Parts: sequence; C-alpha cells; structure tokens
Amino acid sequence: MRGLYRALAVSFSAALMASVLTGCGSASDGKRIVRIGHNQATDHPTHMALLEFENYVESKLGDRYNIEVYPSELLGSQTDMVQLTQTGAIDFCVASNSILETFSDNYTLFNMPYLFASAEAYHASMDDPDITGPIFDSTKKAGFEAVTWIDAGTRNFYTVSTPINSPADLKGLKIRVQQSPTNVEMMRLLGGSATPMGFGEVYTALQSKIIDGAENNEMALTSNGHGDVCKFYSYDMHQMIPDILIGNCAFLDGLSPEERTVFEEGFQVVNQVERREWTNAVEAAKNKAENEQGVQFLYPDTAPFQEICIPMHQSVLEQYPDLKPFYDAIQVHNQTFVSEGGAGQ
Ligand code: GCU
Repeated sequence: MRGLYRALAVSFSAALMASVLTGCGSASDGKRIVRIGHNQATDHPTHMALLEFENYVESKLGDRYNIEVYPSELLGSQTDMVQLTQTGAIDFCVASNSILETFSDNYTLFNMPYLFASAEAYHASMDDPDITGPIFDSTKKAGFEAVTWIDAGTRNFYTVSTPINSPADLKGLKIRVQQSPTNVEMMRLLGGSATPMGFGEVYTALQSKIIDGAENNEMALTSNGHGDVCKFYSYDMHQMIPDILIGNCAFLDGLSPEERTVFEEGFQVVNQVERREWTNAVEAAKNKAENEQGVQFLYPDTAPFQEICIPMHQSVLEQYPDLKPFYDAIQVHNQTFVSEGGAGQ
C-alpha cells in the first residue's frame, strides 16, 4: 500500500513539478501563488502549522496571495526542495538542519550530538536571536534565508530486531542517517555503519532489510510507519535537531514593508502552532507505537553514548572556529536549563 501511494505520489509530483517549474508563481485570478513544500504527512504538526500560516497570511493578504502547502515530498526530497527554494522555483520549504549543513557549514552547530542539556535549553537557544540570527542569514548569498525554526524533538535509535542498550549494540548494524557529514561521523564514532539516504526512502529500506535501523523522533514510528517494521526504540537522546523553514530571498525582498510584516507574523504562527502541537503529537505517537505497533521503548544509560560523542564538539569547533561564540552562548542556556534526566518525557 505504501508502495502504491508512493508511486502515485511520484507521478503526481512529476506533473506538479512541471507546472511549478513553468508556472512560476502567477495565477489566472491575478494572485501570486506562494508554494511551500515539506516532507511530512498531513497528520504531522509541521503540516498543521503551515496550514495555520496559510490561513493567517490569506486572512490579511488574501486579495494578493494564494498560499499552497505541499506535504509528503510532493515537491521532491528535502535536498531537492532546498535547491528549488534557492532558485525561486518554489518560495519556501521546511528542511532539517542536517540537510542545511551541506549548504552552509554554519548549520553544523545544531547537528552536534548532545549539544543541548535539555529540551528547555534547546528551545531557549533556538529562540535566542543572537545565536540563530547570523546563522539564519548566512545563506542569503546563496539565495535563501531561514525565517523560523520548528521543533523536531529528540533523535534516538530504533531497529528492526536488535535492542540498543549501549553503543556496543550498534556494532555492525547499518543505520540510516540524514545526509550530513556530522551524522555520518557520529555513527562512525558510535560503531555503527552509517547509511545516508533521504527520508522518503527509509520505510522501504527498513522493510527490505537494506538497513537494520534508523534514528529519529517518535513521529517517524507512526506518521511514517517505521514502527510497523522496527520493534525497538531506544532513548539514547543523541541529538535535538531543529527543522528550519527557509524562504527564497528574492521573494522575501520583493514584499512591501506591510506585506513583510504579515509574513513575519505568519512565521511566528508556524513556530508557535507547531510547538503547541508537538508535545501532544509525540505522546500520541508513543501510545500508538507501543499499543498498536508493538514497539518496545528502551531507556539505556546515555552516559556511554555521550562519552563517545562529546569529543566531536572540540573537533567541530577546531574545524569551524567562527562557531565558537554561538557554541558558548548555548552553554549559557545549558547552565540555566540543566537536564532533569527525563529521557522520552
Ligand atoms: C524528522 C525531521 C525531518 C527530517 C527527518 C529525517 O522527521 O522532522 O525534517 O527530514 O527527520 O530523518 O530525514
């Protein structure tokens, strides 16, 4: 069924892409079509938040703009969508911070394992314009900029049949990671075999045993069906990687000051609605995974994972010294919001 859905989605998206690439935002009723792509299903908080963005902007500027939200990789993989946003073929997309690392080294910062001491420290850091501002602006020359961040929880390992209780359990396992050098290096250090691939390919790769497992937040188990195949989800808590809403600079710069204000307010709507929905969505995903899909949740001691990964901070900072002030500012939030050790809470 998933295969059929995918085949239909691929042919729909090919037709859609042809119209996106030729239509370029104009509409017969004179309204500017604003296209936003993302890779989540329609039950995901990201999609809900973008629909609220659509409502908000159209309630203020509906005579001029028609916002269209495309879920489920209909406009391509995240890497494809970032490139489409860069060139202006589409106007916005949601990309994982991991993917953005391949477009700007600055995004390496938020991909470091065990960077944040707690969810509160993560939120405070991402809400701190002194930390995110310069990083979000750093791709302007490349044609896009980040307009807000989106909570994507905590990433943990999950596998088809091998419970992960310590790094030693990862040895010899092929684990899908996002396509970012930091994630590949993290897997190498932890002893697993990193298999980078796009999000949309993971379900089939798990099902056909091309990979032994993956790592993600709990929503991947239910919203993406990975819990149908993977029966062990292990809270090693290795990363809190935000998703980032990015926009095409030419589009944003072409807005009048009044329009820009409305769009900026809309970006805050995306951030707030998604965060509001996130906690409940994760709780519901855990219940469904445990009770309907038969996924077992494990709570290993995270210290051995941390001991292996933390030296990466030093090596990343040596490679990218410009990131040091931002890293130090995150440590201030880490000291304010120390961990209460609540894995999976
Ligand atoms: C999460 C994240 C996505 C990302 C995906 C992945 O679902 O929200 O932006 O694409 O992980 O692992 O690729």
